Amino acid sequence: MAENSKLTNKRVVSGMRPTGKLHLGNYVGALANWVKLQETHECFFFIADWHALTTDYADPSKIGVNTVDVALDWLAAGLDPERCTMFVQSHVPQHAELHLLFSMITPLGWLERVPTYKEQQQNLATKDLSTYGFLGYPVLQSADILIYKAGFVPVGEDQVAHVELTREIARRFNHLYPGKRGAILPEPQPLLTPTPKLPGTDGRKMSKSYDNYILLSDPEPVIRQKLKTMVTDPARVRRTDPGNPDLCPVGDLHKIFSDKQTLEKVYAGCRSAGIGCIECKGWAADNLIKTIAPMQERRRKYEENPKLALQIIEAGDAKARASAESTMKEVREAMGLSQNLELPQRATGKTGE
Ligand code: TRP
Ligand code: SF4
Repeated sequence: MAENSKLTNKRVVSGMRPTGKLHLGNYVGALANWVKLQETHECFFFIADWHALTTDYADPSKIGVNTVDVALDWLAAGLDPERCTMFVQSHVPQHAELHLLFSMITPLGWLERVPTYKEQQQNLATKDLSTYGFLGYPVLQSADILIYKAGFVPVGEDQVAHVELTREIARRFNHLYPGKRGAILPEPQPLLTPTPKLPGTDGRKMSKSYDNYILLSDPEPVIRQKLKTMVTDPARVRRTDPGNPDLCPVGDLHKIFSDKQTLEKVYAGCRSAGIGCIECKGWAADNLIKTIAPMQERRRKYEENPKLALQIIEAGDAKARASAESTMKEVREAMGLSQNLELPQRATGKTGE
C-alpha cells in the first residue's frame, strides 16, 4: 500500500519485552499480525527494555543480548524498516519523562485495580515485586502509547486492561490540561490480536518458562526432533487406535501451518487410524519449516552483517525520538513546563522588605 494512504489511517503502536530469541507462539500471537499491519498502517514497534526491568531488575545482565535477539527475529519475521519504525524504548528518554508526568495524575487506586498487578505478583512469587516501578508499569505503558498519539494498540487479551487504563489516563490528562488547540492526547483502541491456540511440545501453551517451545531460529533438524517428541491425542495409545486431531497438539499445529489438503489427510487418516503419528508429525514439520525457512533466509543476511540490524534500530530510535519530542513539547506547554521561563513582572513602586 502506498505510503501516503497510510497517513490517513490511524497510527499503530505496540511493544514487546526483550525475552530473547522468539518462539512460534510469539510469532502467531503478535509478530505475524504486526507484519500485516505495517502494510496498512503507520506503525511504531519497540522493544520494551524498561518494562523488562520492572520484573528482572535484580539481574539485568541479559537485557542487552535479548534486545538484539528480538530485533533480529523481528527483521527475520518480515518487519521491514521501510514500512515501519522499530526502536528500543530506553533509547527514547521522552517515554520516561511522560511516565513521570503521568505518575502525578494517576490515582493509586487505578493501578492497584489493574488485574495483572496482583496476578503477576502471585505468579512470580520468587521475585520481590512490591516495588514502585512494578506498580507503575501500566503508567509507563500508557506513556509508550500516548507519546505517539496511537490510534490502535495490537495486544493480546492479557494487555487489554492496560490499554483501558491508557484511555483513562489520556482522558484525565486532557481534562486537566486542555491544549490551546484542543485535546492533546487521543484515546487509543486496543486491537485484539486473534490468537489461534498454539501449544508447545508438551501440549501446554508455548512458553519460554515451560521449555516446550520451537524457536523461529531453530535449525530444521532441531524442529523435526522437537516435533517427534511432541505429545499427541492421549487416546491414540497404539498405532491401531483412532485419534482426533481436535484433541491433539500436533493437530493444532496443522490447523495453523498446514494447507487444506494436508489437513484433510490428517483428519481422515487420524480418525481412521490410517496414518501413524510419526508420519503426521513429519507433515507438520514440513509445513512449519515452509513458514520458517524464509525467515531464516532473511536472518542470515543480518547475521552476516550484524551492524545492519543495529543501524536499523538507530534510525528507528531517531524517528521515534522526533515524534515523541513533538508530543512532549505540547505536553510540557500544557502542564506549564515551559523551556523559556519568563521573568515575573516586577512591581515598579518601591515596597519595604
Ligand atoms: N506490556 C506489554 C507486554 O508485556 C509490552 C508493552 C510495553 C506494550 N509497552 C507497550 C504493548 C505499549 C503495547 C503497547 O507484552
Ligand atoms: Fe495427532 Fe496426527 Fe497422531 Fe492424530 S495422527 S493423534 S493428529 S499426531
